[in-house]
Amino acid sequence: MNETIQLLKNHRSIRKYKSTPIPEEKLEEIILAAQAASTSSNIQAYTIVAVTDPERKRKLAELAGNQQHIIESPVFLVWCADLNKITVATNLHEDTELHQNVELFLLGTIDATLAAQNAAIAAESLGYGIVYIGGIRNNPQGVTDLLELPPLVYPVFGLSLGVPDQEPDLRPRLPLTAVYHKEVYKKEGLKEDIEAYDEITRGYYAARKGGGKGGDQATKWSLEMQKRFSSGRLRGHLHDFLTGQGFRLK
Ligand SMILES: Cc1cc2nc3c(=O)[nH]c(=O)nc-3n(C[C@H](O)[C@H](O)[C@H](O)COP(=O)(O)O)c2cc1C
Repeated sequence: MNETIQLLKNHRSIRKYKSTPIPEEKLEEIILAAQAASTSSNIQAYTIVAVTDPERKRKLAELAGNQQHIIESPVFLVWCADLNKITVATNLHEDTELHQNVELFLLGTIDATLAAQNAAIAAESLGYGIVYIGGIRNNPQGVTDLLELPPLVYPVFGLSLGVPDQEPDLRPRLPLTAVYHKEVYKKEGLKEDIEAYDEITRGYYAARKGGGKGGDQATKWSLEMQKRFSSGRLRGHLHDFLTGQGFRLK
């Protein structure tokens, strides 16, 4: 195995950080690595807003459901899908409205995600820890107002960045056969794979130290999925927020 693959397989989310700041040149190196990611038709339809101001981080932490690690991490990067810059680019030639549909919305979202994952890997290669924060979509309008995002820009997720002050266990993943199929989708065996994974995650959750599901003897992956995705509509406000922000989702 080479160093890159070793680094990837060693990933774990970090939710406790030292107060050590991240030098601007390191941060720029991380963002340049993000920009090197593949991007649909070279559209580069994303923007990253770096937040270091303690008061703004505090507000973001609150908007994301009181996630303390946002305050603790020296830098919080907000990854935005950005069709505003495509509007500006196309208007250089003809002052027309952007021809939008759900595909264009996906392009911005996918581009932001690929770039963010490049940044995450670059940061980890420099010894920093990261955790993605989808919690900012709990209140996307609040985040949009706080960061003064214009129409056609929306916050996809945040990324906390900093020197780790914890060493959590690796979180086990599904068996390879549950995610890797050959030629066609293999329907058999999935239930068994999930049951096997439940056994592994039961042990993981029971042994896990600290917050979250730490020390929970009763839970397992399928139960966590059931609790999270089968009761109530997750972030049901997003459609109205996105259309209000100018995105067309048809
Ligand atoms: C898009 C996205 C959003 C996430 N949002 C949160 C979040 O709001 N808070 C949090 O503590 N972790 C968040 N996570 C981290 C996941 O919980 C974590 O990646 C997953 O449980 C696997 O654990 P690992 O990263 O340690 O391997 C998020 C991850 C992703 C990819």
